[in-house]
Amino acid sequence: MCGIVGYIGNRQAAPIILDGLAKLEYRGYDSAGVAVFDGSKIHTEKAAGRLAVLEHLTRGGETMPGFSGIGHTRWATHGAPSDLNAHPHTNKQGTIAVVHNGIIENYIPLKKKLEKKGYEFVSETDTEILAKLLDYYYKGNPLEAVTKVLHRVEGSYALGIMFADFPGELYAARKDSPLIVGRNDDGCFIASDVPAILKYTRTVYYMDNQEVACLKADDLQFYSVDEEELSKESVTIDWDADAAEKAGYEHFMLKEMYEQPKTITDTISPRIHENDIVIEELNMSDEELREIRKIHIVACGSAYHAGVTAKYVIEGLARIPVEVDVASEFRYRNPILEQGAMVIVISQSGETADTLAALRESKARGFKVLGIVNVVGSSIAREADSVMYTWAGPEIAVATTKAYSAQLVAMYMLAMKMAKVRGLVDEKTFGSLLSDLRCLPDQVEMLLAQKEKIQHFANRYVGAKDIFFIGRGVDHAISLEGSLKLKEISYVHSEAYAAGELKHGTISLIEDGTLVVAVSTQEDLFAKTISNIVEVKARGAFVMAVTNEGNKAIEKAADYVVYLPETCNWFTNSLAIIPLQLFAYYVALARGCDVDKPRNLAKSVTVE
Ligand code: F6R
Repeated sequence: MCGIVGYIGNRQAAPIILDGLAKLEYRGYDSAGVAVFDGSKIHTEKAAGRLAVLEHLTRGGETMPGFSGIGHTRWATHGAPSDLNAHPHTNKQGTIAVVHNGIIENYIPLKKKLEKKGYEFVSETDTEILAKLLDYYYKGNPLEAVTKVLHRVEGSYALGIMFADFPGELYAARKDSPLIVGRNDDGCFIASDVPAILKYTRTVYYMDNQEVACLKADDLQFYSVDEEELSKESVTIDWDADAAEKAGYEHFMLKEMYEQPKTITDTISPRIHENDIVIEELNMSDEELREIRKIHIVACGSAYHAGVTAKYVIEGLARIPVEVDVASEFRYRNPILEQGAMVIVISQSGETADTLAALRESKARGFKVLGIVNVVGSSIAREADSVMYTWAGPEIAVATTKAYSAQLVAMYMLAMKMAKVRGLVDEKTFGSLLSDLRCLPDQVEMLLAQKEKIQHFANRYVGAKDIFFIGRGVDHAISLEGSLKLKEISYVHSEAYAAGELKHGTISLIEDGTLVVAVSTQEDLFAKTISNIVEVKARGAFVMAVTNEGNKAIEKAADYVVYLPETCNWFTNSLAIIPLQLFAYYVALARGCDVDKPRNLAKSVTVE
């Protein structure tokens, strides 16, 4: 949700800022803007539309001289995507400029108060309040003005601020929206995410809630909201800048799908010790694991779908009841958490507002929270009692693929560990599960190699209006994810249904030629799913089945079959998702959609 970049140092700021924004465009792409101090005043350029419009306008930043500046790429919340609503926002004189990610919840009363004092507003955004409020409090001391504003505003923010009176300083502040500060010999940076500045530095500082940073070309100070100086440790980023580049692939999504074998390996390998699973980060003894009475999994979107799979796998293997909640529901439904409950939140970004709120709600009630998180140092990673990282590396495409696959295997490992300490799997079964787990990377690779076959099939459904995904048990869980992947990037409407549920209403939507994707990987349910396939076929559906190698019986019922290599019942989602991701990708591609940046979406959803 919105990307922020700032730079102050010995080099021209605008090209560095635009370059950084390009790496953050996945966070929002409704409009973009840059403000730089050009030697005498703050010069602002902004434009509705993709970053490319602003890049064209400023010739990649060349037309904007100056050594300090802030930039923003927007995902609109308050006010339509337009030049006027684009950030940076300024005071009337243009001597204070602000970029903001987050939502100022009390902006209406603040706006009214400022209007009474004679302030006029030109945009519909909540952010403009910040510029005017800074103006109101600014009496020659920027730090004082910033902290006074932070005391007045409610909501979430990551801010980059500049004052024309202090061209040698940039200010940054955050609460509940991510912000990092970087430093090298040439200057200091602010950014919403590491890839934006990785080309320039690996030394970063993760800002905590309600902290303020003052950046200079050769100095960096951190303060509390009460202006007390803080000391902060830097972190060295050890992943490669190439990880955040397309590396010759047409889209980040395709590249990230192809990275899935590695992602799975990176997530499982460090936790497999000889013939055991060791999850040190859990910080839980076997005794504590045995005492868990119930697990609550809370997440959003695809991460929620990983949670749905986990419910089947944990309940099946470890026999612990699991409740899975969409985070935005969990936080407001006064959930019943009883003694012996464990809360697990799953998040790629580690910044999803609803998931973070669910984590806080659980902690406030005295429950320990385990975070399954991809982004190192993110808010969820820092606030959870323990963190199990998914080692997927930076995920840039808005639609998640590799992080989701890493979440799945992380959850399998947890389920296996729990089953083992509870004495529910013997050595032989555990060994066989472990060997199936180890085979997943190669099997995913084999499925990815079938991309042309799936592309060929996808091309037939470019004009489809509705597609249905059906499955039973874990196959229902993967249908949810397959359906989401398709609709978010191709804009083709689709629905996922438990295969047995379709006949309770939705089957009325099946007509001649409607595509139904039936996932059937559970041997004991083959016959049941085949019956459901037959039911939709009788109403004219065209059925693509995704099933296990050897299940030839399905060929009599389905029109088109994709076979998956053999694995155990619990891990089939990791394989079934591959043709579904490829299908979504190729339908979107054939429809001319912007695969990496689907309309209306953003990668990291830091608003409710
Ligand atoms: C879908 C997708 C979203 C995210 C959801 C949660 O492809 O990416 O549904 O899964 O917004 O995001 P995280 O995992 O960052 O909490």
